[in-house]
Amino acid sequence: MSSLVELTINGDARSIGTSSERSLLSVLRDDLGLTGCKIGCGEGACGACTVLIDGQLTRSCITPLAEAAGRSVLTIEGLEAHGQLHPLQQAFLDQDALQCGYCTPGMIMAALGLLLQRPDPSQDAIIGWMQGNICRCGAYLRIVRAIQQAAAELRAMAPGGE
Ligand code: FES
Ligand code: FES
Repeated sequence: MSSLVELTINGDARSIGTSSERSLLSVLRDDLGLTGCKIGCGEGACGACTVLIDGQLTRSCITPLAEAAGRSVLTIEGLEAHGQLHPLQQAFLDQDALQCGYCTPGMIMAALGLLLQRPDPSQDAIIGWMQGNICRCGAYLRIVRAIQQAAAELRAMAPGGE
């Protein structure tokens, strides 16, 4: 059944008329062209499709669009601001924390979800948090280093930061 879903995506108010049973991932990619969200397993097990809804990690492949109604969705496309990469994006480049890059948007969104909750996570906390995101290229060590770099930069940028 088709319905109108109103939500905010990367800061913009959107009204989307479609079947409310479709996944958020399908709408983001196929209707809105936000292809940073990747299709991996399609069953919530790999993290490639990770976005934030109201700051919370969300597997968009198993989330019906209707669940995002009235809420704020952030995708990888929403991180760059005024021509500047987000510190997490820059850190992944600086640390060479990718090979094919397919997992990278989901990794960055998951890491952002962590840093919003815990600005100064230990290495173990980073590893534990990121367990749900799979990198088939095995770039895990560099991904952890990138998250540590970004965490330090974000803390330094915060009001009264280091
Ligand atoms: S594609 Fe959504 S978790 Fe794998
Ligand atoms: S960089 Fe290829 S899957 Fe992670």
